[in-house]
Amino acid sequence: MDTKHLLEIMTFDEKVGQLLQIAPFFFIKHADVEIAGEVKDLGLSRKDIFHAGSVLGIGSAEEMMQVQELYMKNHRLGIPLIFMADIIHGYETIFPVPIALASSFNPELVKKTSRISAMEASTAGIHVTFAPMADLVRDPRWGRVVESFGEDPYVNEVMVQASVEGFQTHDLKDERTVASCVKHFAGYGASEAGRDYNTVDLSRIQLHNGYLNGYKKAIEAGAKMVMTSFNVIEGIPATVNRYLLREVLRDLYQFKGVTISDYDSLHQILNHGCAENDKEAAERGIMGGLDIEMASTCYIKHLKELVDEGVVDMKLIDEACLRVLDLKNDLGLFENPYRGANPAEANRLVMSKEHLEQSLKAAYESLILLENKDLLPLNKQVKVALIGPHATYDMTNGPWSWRGNQAHNTSLYDELKAFGVDVIHVNDQVDVSSYKEHDFKMIREADVAILALGEHVRESGEAHSKASLRLPRHQDDLFHMVKEHAKKIVTIVTAGRPLILNDVKESDALIYTWFLGTKHALAVVHTLFGVNQPSGKCPMSFPMHEGQVPLYYNHLNTGRPYQPQGHNEFTSHYLDVPNEPLYTFGEGLTYTEFHYGELHISKTEMTSHDTLDILVDITNVGEHPGHETVMLFIRDRVATISRPVMELKKWQKFKLNPNESKTIQFKLTSADLAYYNQEGQVVIEPGWFDIMVGPHAKDVQQQSFKLIKG
Ligand code: NOJ
Repeated sequence: MDTKHLLEIMTFDEKVGQLLQIAPFFFIKHADVEIAGEVKDLGLSRKDIFHAGSVLGIGSAEEMMQVQELYMKNHRLGIPLIFMADIIHGYETIFPVPIALASSFNPELVKKTSRISAMEASTAGIHVTFAPMADLVRDPRWGRVVESFGEDPYVNEVMVQASVEGFQTHDLKDERTVASCVKHFAGYGASEAGRDYNTVDLSRIQLHNGYLNGYKKAIEAGAKMVMTSFNVIEGIPATVNRYLLREVLRDLYQFKGVTISDYDSLHQILNHGCAENDKEAAERGIMGGLDIEMASTCYIKHLKELVDEGVVDMKLIDEACLRVLDLKNDLGLFENPYRGANPAEANRLVMSKEHLEQSLKAAYESLILLENKDLLPLNKQVKVALIGPHATYDMTNGPWSWRGNQAHNTSLYDELKAFGVDVIHVNDQVDVSSYKEHDFKMIREADVAILALGEHVRESGEAHSKASLRLPRHQDDLFHMVKEHAKKIVTIVTAGRPLILNDVKESDALIYTWFLGTKHALAVVHTLFGVNQPSGKCPMSFPMHEGQVPLYYNHLNTGRPYQPQGHNEFTSHYLDVPNEPLYTFGEGLTYTEFHYGELHISKTEMTSHDTLDILVDITNVGEHPGHETVMLFIRDRVATISRPVMELKKWQKFKLNPNESKTIQFKLTSADLAYYNQEGQVVIEPGWFDIMVGPHAKDVQQQSFKLIKG
């Protein structure tokens, strides 16, 4: 399709219509989809509705085809609608939530799960997914931490890239792909006090060296769309933020795709106190660089007036409209407006055996073994007492799984029984006073108590921030009660955020599962009994106390760094809690042990044209096979700006059998030593760098080298 020619023959209303996104609800009143925010009558006329360029959320292929047919009959030029939806960690087959996938440290897994999600979702005629979320998070109070890849900018970049590649592949004309809309631009994960939608205020150095990196990587990977965030940044709502949307996105990152607001976020700039009315909001939106307005009507109602008054240049509307038409064209919608929608293919692909197997594999790799005092893996002959609120709970899909098929979900109790374990379900109450002598007796008589704790599915996600990070509803009390009676105790925590685990750390074994999706319970049971060897690692620091957050390993040094051994009280520390997290970035056990040989580097001086080789021998010295993830961090000792005490630059994940060794080699170039200045430009400064290699951020060996001019 010649989209430029199409633009020329479009009327003003048709053009502005392309910049409006509404729910399918408007076309077929019965559409039964979950939409965040209020679905309200936006006061749109029939004409407005049949000009709207895109749809948010669609339930099935049949529904999509019905809406598209009706729409195209009513559109003068027959420009097809484009259908967008939140396909975050699966369509009907649900995979682990993103924070769990990040724990796998396996980008191939992320790519595969995104690929399958796209294949399934596309059968319903969905063309764009509002994913991945590239918001960096350092505060687990924020409910959307569950949708993130954690605290590290590099992990975030790698996983975001894998996700975009999985959704889009290299061929968007393939109808089993979906275009990726990276979100929420920008800095949404840094909301003050971890409260959703709250103010964000980050320096440009922080933005460019941490918070923007994920979105940038998504764009480099080809993401077709960018969604703005609800927050203000530097006092200006991100949705109309010229610096972000024009200077960074268009000029610096050379983004050619479509920008879209978040749900009603253009209209909400009135609440931010940045527009008097919707007309001003429309002006700020189009001038700021916002193309599509989701679920509010500032553009459709006011752009005409603004152009007539000479306030807004028609060129801006043409540019935005053309970008939307180009996206439709790239997806092949002009050739086939029903792209993807195919009930027969949906039957064949959705929840297929292969997809369910992949969901199990992803779950295997995403859970984290945090403690194991010689208890796991369990022997199948043990007698188990199962206790706690997650014992019979099967809502394991986690937030943002609106189309998730629950039919295959099971509980721990179901899977323990199916696995042939001698298990007795004691009680799933949280309140300790509901446990009586016969419960204690069952716990005492078992060889192992399995205590299944955690958050329920609606305790994390959008608008689900929390001030307390303790296990909810006094579950620590339940732990102490069970521990008192049990011979051995395995605690399993299911949650959407890192919680405070100070008490349950005293378990004989502790597994952090997050929400693992359709195959959650089976993966946990297979891990307990050694069918699966756990290999996940913490993608975020687990605090000891809420007062420590934001808490992250790659912080800057202070002028008065804390000296644990020192006697100087005027250092950066707390009087009542340590500076350190309970579990640091990268921690996570397996059923075996790995021995690290001495760290070698190929030279102690390098120029910006050289490559540094970094080598370490790793041996499995335990009795089980297992996966290790070895991490390489650097520290830029002296630079123009203060640089983090350590920063992840590379990692490798590999499997070793007992007694097997492997030489791990990393290659470092000067590009790995760069940082961004305030303008977002790359800076590489000569000087000394430390290299740190080890299993996690608190356990590393160190070598140093100097970057010299030349
Ligand atoms: C609001 C959420 O912030 C965003 O992530 C989502 O994509 C939109 N609603 C659309 O559902």
